[in-house]
Amino acid sequence: MYRTPRSEPLTQPRTTRSDAPAHAPDRTPCLAPNRANEELQSIVLSGLLHKPKRLPCKLLYDERGSELFEKICEQPEYYLTRTELQIMQTFSSEMASALGPDIMLMEYGSGSSLKTRLLLNALEHPAVYVPVDISSSALSASVASLRCEFPDLTVNPLCADFTQPFGALPCALRKPAHALTQPDHARRTVVYFPGSTIGNFAATEAVRLLRQIRLQMGSTGGALIGFDLKKAFGLIERAYNDEAGYTAAFTLNLLQRLNRELCADFDLSNFQHSAKYRHDPGCIETHIISQRDQHVAIAGESVHFESGEEMLVEISCKYSMQDFAELAAAAGLRMDAYWTDPQNRFCVQYLVNSP
Ligand code: AVI
Repeated sequence: MYRTPRSEPLTQPRTTRSDAPAHAPDRTPCLAPNRANEELQSIVLSGLLHKPKRLPCKLLYDERGSELFEKICEQPEYYLTRTELQIMQTFSSEMASALGPDIMLMEYGSGSSLKTRLLLNALEHPAVYVPVDISSSALSASVASLRCEFPDLTVNPLCADFTQPFGALPCALRKPAHALTQPDHARRTVVYFPGSTIGNFAATEAVRLLRQIRLQMGSTGGALIGFDLKKAFGLIERAYNDEAGYTAAFTLNLLQRLNRELCADFDLSNFQHSAKYRHDPGCIETHIISQRDQHVAIAGESVHFESGEEMLVEISCKYSMQDFAELAAAAGLRMDAYWTDPQNRFCVQYLVNSP
């Protein structure tokens, strides 16, 4: 989950399959039941039984969802990606000095991202790079190209869901626990968690994740985290309601995924994407809204949706510097250095253990 989407450009014009509107009927046959969709089924059914209905945002990232997320990142309204990139381009040497030489760099939700390359290029002989990603195919592809680009760098991929204790998933590239151990020649471990993915977790979960990061970095290590800052809410809402409709397609693709993987019969034209900013606590809430009173068949159950009923599928939290300091403090961390863009839209912070 949260894997950085594949790096190849999606250059097809809008009329091709890749840019087909979200409501295009999905002709892919429903998949046969297996262990993976049994797990998906239990997650989805418990979310649909919850009042109000909700589904975890990690479900947004099937192959098509990852492609659509990549398109979102290119949209003029979605300022997050290009702003973070601009920060990395401007300050990667300063960041490298803060992180120090000979580090073990572990990246949560890694991929083939340009930001990581900028950091790796700036670091003084990094000892090892450990990309952590749930998708073994995304991991294999990015590891192959990184090994070509950085022939002197030891790359030790770890296929795992970073929101769970590592190693919980059966996965081709799963490594034994010692793969997480800092090698002797590394001076410290730094966990890199870019993209404001931390914002997709509610406060309690975000603190739990930061505590896990703190354990992994150890007493002398650090964490380099990118997050989105609070700002005029109109700008934020536009980022999640792009005019070209990629965010709406990304949200509704979740239903298409359930049709395919859980033999559901969601009619996508009966649902709508909605992304609104909630001032308290300061986050975008993305809902799928039922446009009529309807029943949906899914995994042998019939689920009722009222007209206008909202199902929460994602939160994207925005932080003030104070908000983030409180979150970090709750996990036993404190800010050592930070970098922002001239308009203070986005922030990258280097966190260390608080004394
Ligand atoms: C991955 N994550 C930080 C994105 C965000 O901004 O919350 C996911 C996203 N959802 C809609 N647009 C982008």
